[in-house]
Amino acid sequence: MSGSQPQRKILIVDDDDDFTAATSRAIALEGVECIIARNGAEAMAAVQFADIEIALLDIRIGHEDGTELAGVLRGLRPDLVLVLMTAYASVDSAVAALKVGAYDYLRKPFFLDEIMRALERCFELVALRRAKLRAEHELAMIRQLDATSQLAAGLSHDFRNMLAVVRANLAVIHDGLHARDVLWPYARDAKEAAATAEALVARLMDFTRGPPAAEEAIDLRVPVSSGIAMMRRSLCAGMDLTLELPDFALLAPIKQDQLETAIINLLINSRDATGGTGRATVSLQHYWRGADYARLVVCDNGPGLAPEALERALQVLFTTKSNGTGLGLPMIRQMALLAGGDFWLENAENGGARAVLDLPCLSPVQGSGRNI
Ligand SMILES: Nc1ncnc2c1ncn2[C@@H]1O[C@H](COP(=O)(O)OP(=O)(O)OP(=O)(O)O)[C@@H](O)[C@H]1O
Ligand SMILES: [Mg+2]
Repeated sequence: MSGSQPQRKILIVDDDDDFTAATSRAIALEGVECIIARNGAEAMAAVQFADIEIALLDIRIGHEDGTELAGVLRGLRPDLVLVLMTAYASVDSAVAALKVGAYDYLRKPFFLDEIMRALERCFELVALRRAKLRAEHELAMIRQLDATSQLAAGLSHDFRNMLAVVRANLAVIHDGLHARDVLWPYARDAKEAAATAEALVARLMDFTRGPPAAEEAIDLRVPVSSGIAMMRRSLCAGMDLTLELPDFALLAPIKQDQLETAIINLLINSRDATGGTGRATVSLQHYWRGADYARLVVCDNGPGLAPEALERALQVLFTTKSNGTGLGLPMIRQMALLAGGDFWLENAENGGARAVLDLPCLSPVQGSGRNI
């Protein structure tokens, strides 16, 4: 999910050692790593076990038929982008290549710029497929949130009404009992529990309504600073909180209290993970992802996420805490997706959890805005 660019890598399948050595050297100079397979078995192993999305395949590899091998490789990896090459150019071999699903076709010998043009087209195709997958994944997440919201909205509504009745009756019982009555503490606990349940339902209803639309762009440094200040004074008083802000304004159309709530949720998670005495760093910066984004990162020095939490932390109602509701992170994700951004949680390289929130922002003007 992160914005880092993966290493560009291809597989060359050819039994001509001079050709593979010269070609891979030339391609490596263009920033593309080459893995070489000299026969079908090596090629099959490579596409199954190495992180390869593009293969350059000779139409004759020793006694093996390259078009047949292409079919086998596509069977193993249907997403593999294949470019067939041959010294025996003929209409037949071109047709055979297309039939096994080759994306392109090169005739040997070729110049470096020819092969690089073909490879650039392949890398573009791979990038487009990745973007499509990401978009489908985000759409699935929005649909899941939508379905959960509708379910929760129905439940919360009825549940809130029943709770109101329970609360009212408990209040009558509690108020009618003498403080020394043996039943008095039970009535008090029940009344408090009903109040907690009401707060939970209110939170669920907030979630189902979704974040309110923001009318105008605000400087994100303001809610980030105020969220931190609030936590320093209260729930995170025992923690070492560090804040890193840009010295220019980062403007995005988001409601101030939404971002404040996100910071508070993330810092409460860090507090829970570090037992209230750990360290957390909050940083806000401009980030270029093909467009302008504001990136908010919250890192802590807690134990990080266990495998199940790593996979499920953003799911609605997933919690590993006895008093958790499992709504904190899904609410941030909902806000991010609806704003056209992104949100994820991962384990930081040096341990601890790292939450990343990307929000589309206006193109920043360095030196703009007063320091806050
Ligand atoms: N900083 C963190 N370190 C380790 N685990 C974390 C961290 N943040 C979240 N998690 C894991 O992700 C789960 C989901 O977090 P989320 O904030 O959505 O819900 P919660 O904190 O359990 O409850 P609440 O709705 O009250 O926030 C947590 O229960 C915890 O297991
Ligand atoms: Mg939480």
